[in-house]
Amino acid sequence: MSLPVTPKVPFGGDYNPEQWPEEVWTDDYRLFDTARIDTVTLGVFDWALTQPAEDVYDFGTLDRVVERAAAEGRQVCLATGTGAHPAWLARAHPEITRIDFEGRKHRFGGRHNSCPSSPVFRRLSTEMARRRAARYAGNPAVVAWHVGNEYSGACYCDLCAAGFRDWLRKRYESLDGLNAAWYTRFWSHTFYDWDEIEPPSALTEHWRGPDHTAFQGITLDYMRFMSDAMLNNYLDEKNAIRESSVDLPVTTNFMGMFRGLDYHRWAPHLDFASWDNYPPDDTSQARMAFTHDLMRGLKDGQPFWLMEQTPSFTACRDVNPLKRPGTMRLWSWQAVAHGADAVLFFQMRASRGASEKYHGAVIGHSGRDDTRVFREVAELGAELDTLGGAVLGARTPARVAILFDWDSWWALEISDGPSRLVKYQSVVLAYHQALWEAGVDVDAVPVTADLSRYDVVVAPALHMLKGDIAQRLEEVAARGGSVVTTFLSGRVDEHDNAFLMDVPGPLGALMGVRVDEWDARGPEVVNPVRLGDLVVEARLLFELVIPQGAEVVGEYQADFYAGTPAVTRNAYGTGEGWYVAAGLDQAGVSWVMRQVLDRHGLSGPYPDVPDLETAVRVTPDGTRLLFLLNHNAAPVEVPARVGGVDLLTGTRVEVGQLLTLDARGVMILRQ
Ligand code: GLA
Ligand code: ZN
Repeated sequence: MSLPVTPKVPFGGDYNPEQWPEEVWTDDYRLFDTARIDTVTLGVFDWALTQPAEDVYDFGTLDRVVERAAAEGRQVCLATGTGAHPAWLARAHPEITRIDFEGRKHRFGGRHNSCPSSPVFRRLSTEMARRRAARYAGNPAVVAWHVGNEYSGACYCDLCAAGFRDWLRKRYESLDGLNAAWYTRFWSHTFYDWDEIEPPSALTEHWRGPDHTAFQGITLDYMRFMSDAMLNNYLDEKNAIRESSVDLPVTTNFMGMFRGLDYHRWAPHLDFASWDNYPPDDTSQARMAFTHDLMRGLKDGQPFWLMEQTPSFTACRDVNPLKRPGTMRLWSWQAVAHGADAVLFFQMRASRGASEKYHGAVIGHSGRDDTRVFREVAELGAELDTLGGAVLGARTPARVAILFDWDSWWALEISDGPSRLVKYQSVVLAYHQALWEAGVDVDAVPVTADLSRYDVVVAPALHMLKGDIAQRLEEVAARGGSVVTTFLSGRVDEHDNAFLMDVPGPLGALMGVRVDEWDARGPEVVNPVRLGDLVVEARLLFELVIPQGAEVVGEYQADFYAGTPAVTRNAYGTGEGWYVAAGLDQAGVSWVMRQVLDRHGLSGPYPDVPDLETAVRVTPDGTRLLFLLNHNAAPVEVPARVGGVDLLTGTRVEVGQLLTLDARGVMILRQ
């Protein structure tokens, strides 16, 4: 099963009319008509409303909400409502609230607050999903199921401890296996009974916070276990839905580059991926592009839904900037350009009270249709109507892949040494930024992905090597491709134990180097690196490399290792392995990636125009759509590199003709 079947890109989002009087619903739908809102996500946080007591279910209000949406001709993405449990439930069954990392037992409050291992939570959340599916699956307005909401957090209670031990028994079978994997002879940790194993927390293995642990193997397994425990919560509900809804796709809304859950372990269990895009600032265009690519990579390139974004501002940050005119539209099209087959907001109408009353909404408290935000939403709605189904199902024809690996992320950041300052995301994003600047389409994929379709595979900070990844990277180079990796790659096996060989471990043969030692310094220490005619800066981590056949491309300029290699290139088969041994600045990373892309003649149409993003989607019938996205606050003029018709205006474009893109302007050329 794959995406919901829709005639066009669904447009709309989270809608919580149970929070206001029914008279207002009429206004809501009038405004939805104006803005061409055709899809509403219903019931995300209405558990307490639909189950007022343990033995009482009351779907009266939800019935009216769903019936009204159906009567108004909208598509419904129906939630299971289990993202926050009711107060009576926490009172009747205290087991349901979490114990946090510090060992504090939580009481009722907040959301995303249920212990994933609680049998009561599992039973009642499953039952809620079961009843909703049985009740609404037959309603033709319902097009998709939305399980829970933004799964996140962790629990350290005794139920979770027991769940962890079960999970470990399955993984290791014997305590000998576990002791070996966790390297427990270190610090007298040998376990002789499964019940001796404690969740790693501030009360046990951790000494400063969640990233500071005495035993990386234990902490890593707990992160994996928590991810799996919540995945089981999702699966409980999904399976209950399937009892009465056999053919409607099921998803849950992810959070993009979210560290807490290994989305690659989840992805096979989602019929389609969906995610909530709340970038940290308004200069995150490259980061958003990467995150879209990562979400598309979850289901092997299948389009995803943009489940949430704010039309204007968020509320949970210390400072919540307003999206500038045109930004919401531009970012919506950016999502579509990278594979989104739906554009949805949080939220349709602003809540009146509680923590999100100042969160942006399509309709504000005054209910006006003449605000700037509403107008821009309505304009986008009209454009999506014009576009119709033209992009649905279209794929991204990327020749370049970036490997993204939650285990490497976790292992790198819970490691004592070499440096707490090296952040996995920063390393990955620097390499992606270089590709984004070059304008090439990129797939962000798990280490298990089929790499045979790529010319270039970039594996930034691939700290942990699992399965046959080293061999498959060798195969990429052997057949003529280029593989790029960096410092802190190839360090540990799947248990976070070091390889008993030269760094970068099993990547050594492909890279043609060995790392003899390494030097970590504060951000104020710069070691310049010479790359051709360019001198760039390197910071944080400097590996000292001894070539084992690789050619030196860049050298350190300072310190006792001045003149030794910082960047190397190794001929392997008919391809190459590139090793970047230091934390190069963006200019350095971009220079390296430029050399690699040039080798394969890979480039977007406008690598010389800053912040003019391009992305290609190819429709199921083979039509190429070229998206041009001007992230500049000023217009840009460029010659058309391909001819076609702009799907938004119907204008014909001939090759060579001068194109003007407005500030934050968008063009979609059907070639
Ligand atoms: C998340 C949640 C929503 C809402 C928004 C606010 O994405 O899923 O319920 O809280 O954040 O930005
Ligand atoms: Zn728990």
